[in-house]
Amino acid sequence: MALYASAPSNIALVKYWGKRNTQHNLPLTSSFSVTLEAMRTWVAISPLSEGPDQWALYGNPKKAARVLAEARAFTHNHQPLAISIHNDFPSGAGLASSASSMAALAFALNLVLNDGQTPHAEVARWARLGSGSAVRSLYPGFVLWEAGQDPDGHDCIAQSRFPAAQLPLDLIACVVDDRTKPIGSTEAMERCRDTSPIYGQFHARNPADLQRALLAVQHQDLHALGQVSEDNCLAMHEVMHQAQPPVNYFQDGTHAAIATVRTLRKQGLPCFFTIDAGPNVKVLCPPAYTPTIREALQRTAGVTRLLLDRVSDHAAQRESAWPAHLPPHAPAGNQE
Ligand code: PMV
Repeated sequence: MALYASAPSNIALVKYWGKRNTQHNLPLTSSFSVTLEAMRTWVAISPLSEGPDQWALYGNPKKAARVLAEARAFTHNHQPLAISIHNDFPSGAGLASSASSMAALAFALNLVLNDGQTPHAEVARWARLGSGSAVRSLYPGFVLWEAGQDPDGHDCIAQSRFPAAQLPLDLIACVVDDRTKPIGSTEAMERCRDTSPIYGQFHARNPADLQRALLAVQHQDLHALGQVSEDNCLAMHEVMHQAQPPVNYFQDGTHAAIATVRTLRKQGLPCFFTIDAGPNVKVLCPPAYTPTIREALQRTAGVTRLLLDRVSDHAAQRESAWPAHLPPHAPAGNQE
């Protein structure tokens, strides 16, 4: 019998862009994100009677293998497994597919290998070792992931700070290019650390940006949240643009979508953007304004399509069935 779990993507409004420890994948600074609903990764795991493990996944198998190794080391359960990981949205294009997939995998492994008995912080550690930002997909709503200072990361923990209803937001992802990004986030972060003259400056502004973002959500102040999110995102990309050689994820459609958001705002429509390690632009707005904002983004040159999502409390969870609209999950050769 297969066990199913899913986890959503999450989008940072105050970004994580640098590690204080690469071996433990610990961030240099804290980050603040929103957990989504529809952009999910689904994981199916079936025990096998004999090895080797069977994998069916898109993306970097090394990350998933690391999560599995950590889960086995902690649980001492070495049962061979058939594992399928399937994204419900374009992978590897700055839509945080590694976050949702590593969160879903860690969550499912706890259920399969340890009957769901592993402490939450330990499951979060497995997810983090696959992809740092995955930790945030384990929690609902508005999430703070604290960097901590402990060399082993015991104080590097995430928590939900506000439920989604505190400040209801839709997210419109403007897909400019859904091919895999030319440079992965870990390599890009390392290049920025080694060569960008403003890497330190970006991290120095982090506490103030976090404070601004938390207060904005607390006061349900969309304008203030938008300002700090855009400032922080553009500062992160400036760090990349000043690296040697520069890391530039922006494409023409990225600039055009930013311009559309600014025009909409001038027209009195509340919305703001954020952009991760890819060319796609995520636009956030109150749900009442989504139809108008969507129409304008649809007409923006270089935006190939839109994906609609929203901030949600539906974090990683066990699922009772595999979704019918996804391809079958069983890896080749697996007997269900
Ligand atoms: O978790 P990673 O290694 O994919 O890095 C994520 C980095 C950003 O998405 C650009 C920022 C963030 O905080 O999510």
